[in-house]
Amino acid sequence: MDLQHFLNHNPESLAQYAQTVQQTQKLIQDCLSQQERVFSGLSPATLSEFLTQKILPEQGIPTQQVLQEAVEAIFSHSIAVHHPDCVAHLHCPVLIPSLAAEMLISAFNQSMDSWDQSGAATLLEQNLINFMCQLYGYDANADGTLTSGGTQSNFMAFMLARDYALQQRGFTSQLHGLPNLAGRFRILCSEVAHFSVQQSAAILGLGMNAVVRVKVDKNYRLCSCLLYTS
Ligand SMILES: Cc1ncc(COP(=O)(O)O)c(C=O)c1O
Repeated sequence: MDLQHFLNHNPESLAQYAQTVQQTQKLIQDCLSQQERVFSGLSPATLSEFLTQKILPEQGIPTQQVLQEAVEAIFSHSIAVHHPDCVAHLHCPVLIPSLAAEMLISAFNQSMDSWDQSGAATLLEQNLINFMCQLYGYDANADGTLTSGGTQSNFMAFMLARDYALQQRGFTSQLHGLPNLAGRFRILCSEVAHFSVQQSAAILGLGMNAVVRVKVDKNYRLCSCLLYTS
């Protein structure tokens, strides 16, 4: 692969970057302006016929052609999250400044898992977490981490709670694994809680049966006295 395909300080690379970004931006604008409905309406069977390009072709294809094909086969048959008829399950219309942020993030490609791989970005992440801890009224011992979404957040929360409960009883799961005692741990959650609660319990070695679902009232508030027995 030619070196100019990698983003760097050389004029050829910078010119290719500018050209590719402009072409991509134009394709996105064209695609969005043509999306008149929330979805094109194609059935899964018809749509899969559109997706005939090889995932990994033997020969490389010019970036512009890949982008064009991606728009035709994929993005013009995506859900239009910005459309007034689209009711979001989770994801909403995109904020334009966040698109600028995504460009910066992907162009500079920092890795925050250690300071020597990012410099300022590691400190920024820590500052953000400190700020959030303060915002929620936690003391100076508080810490945190950014996760990819709800499933990972639930998993992290249960792992920390499990390890804290074990530590209080003289066990360190990283050293000892799970003692018999862990078989008595229970997670109480609403009967309408997301299935990632059960999933996390399974992965954390507590088992799905450790999850006790608590009934909710008509406003989905936990009813403290009404527990399911199974
Ligand atoms: C309450 C709740 N928790 C967790 C999740 C899972 O989130 P994610 O898809 O970000 O892992 C969802 C997603 O629907 C949710 O509604």
